[in-house]
Amino acid sequence: MPHVQPAAVPDPEPTLAAVVVLAAGQGTRMRSSTPKVLHALGGRSMLGHVLAAAAPLGAGATVVVVGSGRDQVEQHLAQIAPTALPVLQEEQRGSGHAAAVALAAVPGLEGAVLVVNGDAPLLTTRTLEALVAAHDAAGSVFTVLTAEVDDPTGLGRIVRDGSGAPQAIVEERDATPEQCSIREVNAGVYVAAAGTLRRVLAGLATDNAQGEQYLTDALAPLVAGGAPTAAVRADDPDDVLGCNDRRELAARRRTLNDRVLDELMRSGVTVVDPATTWVDVTVSVAPDALLRPGTQLEGVTSVGAGAEVGPDTTLVDTEVGESATVVRTHAVGARIGAEVSVGPFAYLRPGTVLGPRAKVGTFVETKNAQVGEGSKVPHLSYVGDATIGRGTNIGAATVFVNYDGVAKHQTTIGDHARTGADNMFVAPVTVGDGAYTAAGSVITSDVPPGAMAVARAAQRNVAGWVRRRRPGTPAAQAAAAAESPAEAPGQDHSGTSRADHDS
Ligand code: UD1
Ligand code: CA
Repeated sequence: MPHVQPAAVPDPEPTLAAVVVLAAGQGTRMRSSTPKVLHALGGRSMLGHVLAAAAPLGAGATVVVVGSGRDQVEQHLAQIAPTALPVLQEEQRGSGHAAAVALAAVPGLEGAVLVVNGDAPLLTTRTLEALVAAHDAAGSVFTVLTAEVDDPTGLGRIVRDGSGAPQAIVEERDATPEQCSIREVNAGVYVAAAGTLRRVLAGLATDNAQGEQYLTDALAPLVAGGAPTAAVRADDPDDVLGCNDRRELAARRRTLNDRVLDELMRSGVTVVDPATTWVDVTVSVAPDALLRPGTQLEGVTSVGAGAEVGPDTTLVDTEVGESATVVRTHAVGARIGAEVSVGPFAYLRPGTVLGPRAKVGTFVETKNAQVGEGSKVPHLSYVGDATIGRGTNIGAATVFVNYDGVAKHQTTIGDHARTGADNMFVAPVTVGDGAYTAAGSVITSDVPPGAMAVARAAQRNVAGWVRRRRPGTPAAQAAAAAESPAEAPGQDHSGTSRADHDS
């Protein structure tokens, strides 16, 4: 169907000329060799979260001010937002200076600009849209996002006049005791008319406690000059929280995770223990899935309807099919089919593909391994560089010997094969459809379909060896009793009987 745009309907969304993200600061308080905005939570860097929140606003340009650790930040930016323009702030002379450097990089820009601190990972698109809408509705030239918080320590305070109109943003270090008691704080998120902002930033002084050009100092001169300005409170004060040190990072991570889990639970996912379940913002979980305690879902992981994951399971970039169960497992880059059973204690590495109703059991490691529909690798095995057909059973303690010290080789096992316990498949090797292999075999050549391969030394029993070579031991006594039961006196076998070991 052709898409016809009715000419008369105006764009309902307010349009933004640019988004400017301030990300040049050193982040001294993180005490890290990694630039602050690259620290990650919930599956994205802080910078990634800010850009993701702003992206749906559809700004004409995205400018990111870089400085401290610029190489790392630029590299990261090229990966996550290749169309964003990194702009270098050589010296970190304050947030106002950073914004001015950004605007200088887009000289012709007119219209509304959204300026955002790069260390605000909890910002939401909804909050940003509301800010831009309020800015438009008020006909403002400079609008600041604010929040009422319980503990305003360290943040800029919003000073309003008797009528509630914003007058100034005062940094805590420069605030009077009276101003310090204000609990409405600056979020570090602003919408401004590009031309006005350029002009006011050019006039910023550095006569403050840090000797920096504060972006926050843009408000007061505009108010004094009679320009229309606004300060808009965020609905959820959590949205605006910055992140300056590792304790704040942990707190933001917790808040973000709570949000992700709330959304999942609302959508029909059971989360047994939200306190120990961690889900990245990039993960999808279908309704009626169940997440047990100690589950971490990371990257582009997805969990299908009715699947059960955990306890104590980490899945990275892994797909879990409908009604699968994954117990005490670590998986990276794996595809787990519908109704598959994995674990307890399995390690699935990249390239693992488990067909429907397959099983990978206890103490099993897989890598580059396809396990066909209904096939089982139940116990104590390594399956690397292998293709296993449908309906096949791999015996306990099997190793797919894929590495000759130089190169990796492939093993292929057919459909409905039954391989014995304690087999070595020395790749490259193929076991045909319906073939069997004997327990303890080292399979070095191909097994034709339907054959039974026996690749182990024949057994030799040396009769009477124990009686001759280990006389007087409990073993010799037990052997004697077994050989002539009538002669032997009643013996206590409790410590050594076979029955103990067979249980
Ligand atoms: C800033 C605000 C404060 C607000 C708080 C919200 C100022 C002066 N103060 O304080 O009112 O309550 O955010 O979290 O803006 N940056 C640069 N170049 C620089 C300096 C900073 O790009 O030269 C960037 C930083 O990387 C950071 C942002 O600007 O993303 C804010 O700087 P930061 O030092 O974190 O300011 P705060 O003290 O948190
Ligand atoms: Ca900050």
